[in-house]
Amino acid sequence: MRVLVTGGAGFIGSHFVRRRLAVGDDVVVLDKLTYSGNLANLEGLGCDFREGDIADAGAVSEAAEGCEAVVNFAAETHVDRSILEAGDFIRTDVYGPHVLLEWARRSGARLVHVSTDEVYGDIPEGTTSRETDALRPSSPYSASKAGGDLQVLAYVRTYGVDARVTRGANTYGSHQHPEKLIPLFVTNALDGQPLPVYGDGRQRREWLHVADHSAAIELVLHEGAAGEVYNVAGEERENLDVMRRIVEATGADPSLLRHVADRPGHDRRYALDSSKLRQLGWRPEQSFEQGLEQTVEWYRANRAWWERIKSGEYRAYYARQYADRLS
Ligand code: DAU
Repeated sequence: MRVLVTGGAGFIGSHFVRRRLAVGDDVVVLDKLTYSGNLANLEGLGCDFREGDIADAGAVSEAAEGCEAVVNFAAETHVDRSILEAGDFIRTDVYGPHVLLEWARRSGARLVHVSTDEVYGDIPEGTTSRETDALRPSSPYSASKAGGDLQVLAYVRTYGVDARVTRGANTYGSHQHPEKLIPLFVTNALDGQPLPVYGDGRQRREWLHVADHSAAIELVLHEGAAGEVYNVAGEERENLDVMRRIVEATGADPSLLRHVADRPGHDRRYALDSSKLRQLGWRPEQSFEQGLEQTVEWYRANRAWWERIKSGEYRAYYARQYADRLS
């Protein structure tokens, strides 16, 4: 199959690219190479790489030529950055899917739109979100992702486009940009730097290994139905539990954990009901404890990969995000 993977130089996208190349697909990657896109993630893989923006119709039609499907990972994804400045999120996460949908409408190709559990907003203990639940996004990031999801569903209904949506939990694994909780804490812990715990640290997230997430998206590409949404759940843990495990696995000093000012609008809890995806045959293979240990080992062994990221634009972001909190 010839498939276009947008955002294929990013974290989940590059894992997906590796997976599709392994089954013999002809993979074209379209990636804007923003701060989180990283060509090192595709090194030596032999895919057809095109630098470009999903919000640019010309770049999309050129890259998508001859493709039977597009899987859209391209997105601005970090909640904290969306709180600092939301404009890029609207362009990439709202206007970008519109451009891809227009291309799918013209070409008749299939679209898998990769979204997030954050579109449901936070939910009470003892409940899980189902695909039919109302969307109540809390941050500029999740609101922009919800806008993308709704356009996909509207294009299916109005134009009969062959598109479907996945909504994944917090994903972790190798090659994740160190702005996100797990790689941030692992790399800071390895360097003896403070570990900023937002608020009381009692928020709960579901953790999904990137290989299990990629397998779910692949299944939806082949077996999912147009106009359907599929939740991809992980294992639920309290943030402090994850943070303490990282301290233990890295051998860091527990006093590096520092409670700091909370994220504005911070969602307390996400939890997904994935029974629809399980009915298609999806079963996660990686336990969180094992996956986390392997992830810590990957960051320990690949210092050059993350040091390069942490020395660039990241420094200015880190100061803006954490300097006041940690002072
Ligand atoms: O749930 C899926 C979503 O997971 C994805 O759609 C997003 O793209 C991805 O960024 C992630 O969103 P979160 O906001 O949950 O992830 P993050 O790694 O930023 O934070 C995880 C939790 O850890 C959250 O409760 C905030 C907390 N946290 C995060 C950072 C970066 C801290 O306490 N301190 C921190 O420095």
